[in-house]
Amino acid sequence: MKETNLKALACAIPLLRGGRGVFSKAIGNGAADNEVLAWRINTPLPLHLPAAPPLERGTVKKLKHIIYFVLLFCICCHASAQRKVEDFDNGWKFMLGDDSLAKRQTYNDAKWRQLELPHDWSIEGKFSKDNPTTQAEGGLPAGIGWYRKTFIVSPALKGKQVFIDFDGVYHNSEVWLNGHYLGKRPNGYVSFSYELTRYLNFGRKNIIAVRIDNSDQPNSRWYSGSGIYRNVWLTSVDKTHFKQWGMFVTTPAINSEAATVHVQTSLSSLKNGLLLKLMMYNAEGKLIATNISAAADTALSRDVVLKTPKLWSTEHPYLYKLTLQIIDGKQVLDNYLVNVGIRSFNFDPQKGFSLNGERMKIKGVCMHHDLGALGAAVNTRAIERQLEILKAMGCNAIRTAHNPPAPELLDLCDKMGFLVLDEAFDMWAKKKNKHDYHEEWAQWHTRDLQDQILRDRNHPSVFMWSIGNEIREQFDSTGISIARELVKTVKAIDPTRPVTSALSEADPKKNFIYQSGALDVIGFNYHPEVWADFLKNYPGQKFIATETTSALETRGFYDQPTDTTRHWPQSSKIPFTQGNSELAVTAYDNITAYWGTTHEDTWKIIKKYDFLSGLFVWTGFDYIGEPTPYPWPARSSYFGIVDLAGFPKDVYYMYQSEWTDKSVLHLLPHWNWQVGQIVNVWAYYSQADEVELFLNGRLLGIRKKSGDGLHVEWRVKFEPGILKAVSRKNGKVVLTSEIHTAGPAAKIILTADRKMIKADGKDLLYITVRITDKDGNTVPDANNLVSFKITGPGTIAGVDNGSETSMEPFKANYRKVFHGLCLAIIQPTHKGGNIVVKATAGGLKTAEVSIVSK
Ligand code: GAL
Repeated sequence: MKETNLKALACAIPLLRGGRGVFSKAIGNGAADNEVLAWRINTPLPLHLPAAPPLERGTVKKLKHIIYFVLLFCICCHASAQRKVEDFDNGWKFMLGDDSLAKRQTYNDAKWRQLELPHDWSIEGKFSKDNPTTQAEGGLPAGIGWYRKTFIVSPALKGKQVFIDFDGVYHNSEVWLNGHYLGKRPNGYVSFSYELTRYLNFGRKNIIAVRIDNSDQPNSRWYSGSGIYRNVWLTSVDKTHFKQWGMFVTTPAINSEAATVHVQTSLSSLKNGLLLKLMMYNAEGKLIATNISAAADTALSRDVVLKTPKLWSTEHPYLYKLTLQIIDGKQVLDNYLVNVGIRSFNFDPQKGFSLNGERMKIKGVCMHHDLGALGAAVNTRAIERQLEILKAMGCNAIRTAHNPPAPELLDLCDKMGFLVLDEAFDMWAKKKNKHDYHEEWAQWHTRDLQDQILRDRNHPSVFMWSIGNEIREQFDSTGISIARELVKTVKAIDPTRPVTSALSEADPKKNFIYQSGALDVIGFNYHPEVWADFLKNYPGQKFIATETTSALETRGFYDQPTDTTRHWPQSSKIPFTQGNSELAVTAYDNITAYWGTTHEDTWKIIKKYDFLSGLFVWTGFDYIGEPTPYPWPARSSYFGIVDLAGFPKDVYYMYQSEWTDKSVLHLLPHWNWQVGQIVNVWAYYSQADEVELFLNGRLLGIRKKSGDGLHVEWRVKFEPGILKAVSRKNGKVVLTSEIHTAGPAAKIILTADRKMIKADGKDLLYITVRITDKDGNTVPDANNLVSFKITGPGTIAGVDNGSETSMEPFKANYRKVFHGLCLAIIQPTHKGGNIVVKATAGGLKTAEVSIVSK
């Protein structure tokens, strides 16, 4: 791809959903135009219609001005906009099991369970090594399930077109409305819609029935979840409307003085005299431009040139808002709101990545879609919490391994400032699992890929597409033709973003996806040993490490000594016999899978060479499934920088010390050992020259990072007491950090992540539970069983403790703490009030936390 093509993408999000309601801000005639240079209308205007003048060019004839302002005035008096997007998550019924009659309108579902979507039935199940999902998917049950919803559509909507939009259903869903079959969608991660209009009873009862078949196991290499696990919407539009995903906003030219925002849109149909109106708002909500012009074609494009544009970046994710309306006389037939982020970026073979002209390393993590104890069930606050934790670590990019993400993730990345590598597939025609997507490949892959690109191409966060992860076709010549075909499909819809694929074969002669010549950026999974030679082996190519590291850690577990780095397992050929009875992995960043490298070693290389544009660490958070290296009952991954419950492992602070400007001082391990035992003490630090370590007031030595080292360490003979680190810069104390030997467990400490939550049935409160001694020191080996009692308008949405092996259910009112910590996730109902959570554990002092929900 030419470099110019890699630049300048802008973006838009259909926000008219879930409370995203109708955006119908009234405007005055004098739309502020001081931020707009010019509008360009790219479709010819019919002669009988007045064109909106370019806003601040004073050359338009007076008469035209008068007609324009009269027209604008009329439009301001119009009825409010017509598109209606309703949250369709409430009032569903669910049955686990199969009944072919359940598609019928007359079916009696009175005994079915009532619930609100999003819903994942697997996460409610029991772990078992005998579940057909296998250990790789976390050993939770899958099977077949049905959902039904009875609803009434207002008679006022007669004459409109009505659609049901599913953000994602895992998988093989089939949908019926009032007994009529609407269709099947095998892919569990794509968004899809059905038009309901034809079979809809306006003003009377309707029944929608959804059958989901996740019994074709195994079909995934990680936990997928089962059910309607993402949001559902009911959209009604006029016959003349903006087509679904028909909007494409780009910014083909950006400099400090001006940026061109290019809007392409397609209408479902045309009528005589239709107008297209655009309104651009800045992030502060101020209207900065308005344009009205004839909609003479179903395909329309417009340009607006913004003066001194504010750019979107990972540090300052500035979003403009663009509203588009279709106007017919006095009626607004449709409206659509998109967020627009103005940014340009470039991959350079020598210099690496730059955003808005500034060099920047991509400091990314790979993320699977599960949300720990909530399973796959999408929750905006849960995703936001993950992103907040990653942001605080200095992470600036997410790879959606290995499938299209929830739309909410992209909305949040737009707002919070993350770049997103949006990935399509984990396999093509060749399988990785008996019943995985290869079975659907021939029939569905083009459509699924197209829909993903159409849906996601307006997000400023999305900066690159990945057509696949470690695809088996890279090893034979079929990889050439399929890669070319997929890239062609992507470019036909979005020619502006680069396309990569996460390749695991590092030898260019043996990699047929690379040889296709279709990739804009070469994505490497692992093989850090050849990164330094990349430009020799791949002359003129651009590099991104799409996946790295695969180091293993259990939060709070430490093995001594720490001097060697080991591979668990050692190789693909040698059965794994190392390990320990707890099925834990030391948290000292010195054990990796045999294809991986430690966090430190990986980052050191990426950091060293400019042409290595960045990396995506496997993984940001632990996820359910793929519990390398251990056998059952291990059921979730050890790869995360953060554990499944969202508690950072120690290496989180290595990244924070390297990836942020914050002053960091993090000391490990805990300070409860056998007297006389030699303990390796590590510190990650930044913004300081050196660290002093004291044990019970005695100085044990001063350490400085040397060479490319990313931590300092001491060997210390254990004695109980206080281990204290002091970081200094130019002799002045920057930070101190203490770890105390903890006495016996005495009390529970609860810490809620927020003081107030929304009584909307969706928000979440995360409560960290800590078991401490009488003085408040966390007890590192505490494993007490904590029970929760909740009063007021809330329920427990999940519990967890980050253990990779716990067989306790995620949906429960109790949890054992793991290395001193566990988590309770509270969900408010739709009623406001005080939610009080009480935690008890045998023999310990009880704790309580009270939160306002409103
Ligand atoms: C990679 C693969 C990931 C995950 C990871 C574990 O090869 O792309 O999906 O399996 O290994 O280390």
